[in-house]
Amino acid sequence: MSTDPSTLHADVIARLSAAPDLDALKALERDLLGKSGPAGQILASIPTLPPDQRKAAGARANELKRALETALADRRRELEEASLAAERGGGDFDATLPPAPLERGGLHPVTRVTRELEDLFTSMGYTILDGPEVELDWYNFEALNLGPDHPARDAQDTFYCDAEGKVVLRTHTSPVQIRAMERMKPPFRAVVPGKVFRNEAVDASHEHTFHQMEGLVVGKDVSVGHLIGAMKTLLRGVFGREIEIRLRPGYFPFVEPGFELDARCPFCKSGCRVCKQSTWIELLPCGMVHPNVLKSGGIDPEQWTGFAFGLGLSRLVMLRYGIDDVRHLLSGDLRFLEQF
Ligand code: FA5
Repeated sequence: MSTDPSTLHADVIARLSAAPDLDALKALERDLLGKSGPAGQILASIPTLPPDQRKAAGARANELKRALETALADRRRELEEASLAAERGGGDFDATLPPAPLERGGLHPVTRVTRELEDLFTSMGYTILDGPEVELDWYNFEALNLGPDHPARDAQDTFYCDAEGKVVLRTHTSPVQIRAMERMKPPFRAVVPGKVFRNEAVDASHEHTFHQMEGLVVGKDVSVGHLIGAMKTLLRGVFGREIEIRLRPGYFPFVEPGFELDARCPFCKSGCRVCKQSTWIELLPCGMVHPNVLKSGGIDPEQWTGFAFGLGLSRLVMLRYGIDDVRHLLSGDLRFLEQF
């Protein structure tokens, strides 16, 4: 032991040498370095000493503490080496066995599908945009043609962040439509993947926090035909083959006309649990950007038209990987995540 024998009492050195294992050493460490240990006792006595002796007593206590720490570290190393040697000397130790494999993390399924879609859309000339999750009521509702008392606000039960109701957790990615129009000059195309929040009664297909991907295209003479073409490309990219679609009328105050786009169920021919026996899956609300929304974003609706869509990314991920409950996605449960 590399301690100075003149600093440490022989009985301390003996107790250290007698500690049989690391647990015992830990207990001894608590004793020796604690308030009632040798250095602690000197420190506690300082107030009772004459002033001219206090400095020397403090220095002695520090020196003793350092010597104890060194002696403890030396003994710890000895015990660790002894335990390793005992382990390796055992009959079943085989130095040629490969080490346990390193546990590697993987990408979350939402991240995987988001990245695939980002690649797909950038290849079609789209820009990837981001927007704030804590949003102003103006962007989340008003600028999207959803005035303060608009009944369609009820469809997106909102978490308000302030008493006046001016700041909200965004209920959809559509507010980034307005932010995009403010920042970019038409013509442009953009997609916005992101997290959104609703005060939902949570069940297997409804979460309070989920992912959407907004799409916005503004240009000259953009039509419903362009919208359908883009949506078919999107589905082909996700499912790796042509998917039949149908459009039904849908109401969203920020598009006119508005549609619900359904995709032919990729899992069955005559009905299954996923498509609720209908062979169609409701996938993608979309429509032509309402002129009032273009105006809110500072774009002249006489000159420019556009389409927008709001993909339910969480639901698409469920379809893609056959996940039966949306709540798995953000549960943080490793038994679920390790499957990807
Ligand atoms: C919207 O959020 C509109 N902003 C979509 C839009 C954008 C329409 C652009 C027109 C133009 P909706 O509330 O239907 O629409 O939500 C869109 C998608 O999000 C739904 O189709 C569904 O797939 C998904 N979604 C909605 N609520 C939940 C929820 N609680 N949990 C998981 N996914 C949800």
